[in-house]
Amino acid sequence: MAAIIAIQITERAKQNQSFVLGLATGSTPILLYKELIRLHREDGLSFANVISFNLDEYYGLPADDPQSYHEFMRANLFSQIDLPPHQAHIPGGVIPRDQVPAHCSGYEKAIKEAGGIDLQILGIGGSGHIGFNEPPSDERSTTRLVSLDPITRRDAADSFSGIGNVPTEAITMGVKTILRSRQVFMMAWGENKASIVARSLQESPSPALPATQLQRHPDVHYLLDESAASKISQ
Ligand code: F6R
Repeated sequence: MAAIIAIQITERAKQNQSFVLGLATGSTPILLYKELIRLHREDGLSFANVISFNLDEYYGLPADDPQSYHEFMRANLFSQIDLPPHQAHIPGGVIPRDQVPAHCSGYEKAIKEAGGIDLQILGIGGSGHIGFNEPPSDERSTTRLVSLDPITRRDAADSFSGIGNVPTEAITMGVKTILRSRQVFMMAWGENKASIVARSLQESPSPALPATQLQRHPDVHYLLDESAASKISQ
C-alpha cells in the first residue's frame, strides 16, 4: 500500500502536480504510516506535493486532546514527514454547532478545489461504518455531523478509559464524498474484522451496512490479512 502511494505521489511530483490523499485514523493504518515515514526518511519520498483530507474527527475534542484525530495524525504521521501543514485537512472537532453546516460544506468545497481525492484509505468499523458513516448512511450523504453508533462507542471504550468518555458525535465525510474518490483502498486486519468484512462484500449495497456501498465504486481494492478474509465465502 505504501509503495502504491509512493509511486503515485512521485509520478505526480515529476509532472509538477499535486496528489490528493484521503487519510484514515484508528489502528488499521498505523503500519502503513510507519512505512510511509520510513520511505520519507530512507528513500527520500517527499510529501511536498501532497494535499490530504482526513475522513473524520470526534465532535467535542479540541485538536490538542490526546484522543483527537488531529493529535493521532500529528503523532503517527504528520510530525515525521514533510507534508506542509496548510495542505493537511481534518474536520474540526470544536466548531460551534450553528457553524457546523458551513464547516462541512467548506470541507466538501476544499476537496473539490484540490481536484478531488485521488486515493482514499479506509478501515471498517464493527458497525459496518466507513469514516464515521454509521448505519443508516446512504450514498447521497456528504460531510456532516453524525451520532456515533453504540458499537463504535463500545469499540472505542478502552482507549477512552470507559464508554462514558467516548464522544457521542463526530464530523465525517459522507458515503458520497468517499465514493467520489478516484481509487479506494479498504484495509482490514485480524479475526475480529472477519464477519463485517465478509458482510460488506456479500450483502447487497444498502445504507444499513454503509461499507456495502463500496461495491458501487469502479476502482475499490480490499487489502486483507488471512484472518480478516477468513469468512468470505468462495
Ligand atoms: C477512522 C475511521 C474509521 C476506522 C474504523 C476502523 O478515521 O474513519 O472508519 O477506519 O473504525 O478502526 P480501526 O482501524 O481502529 O479498527
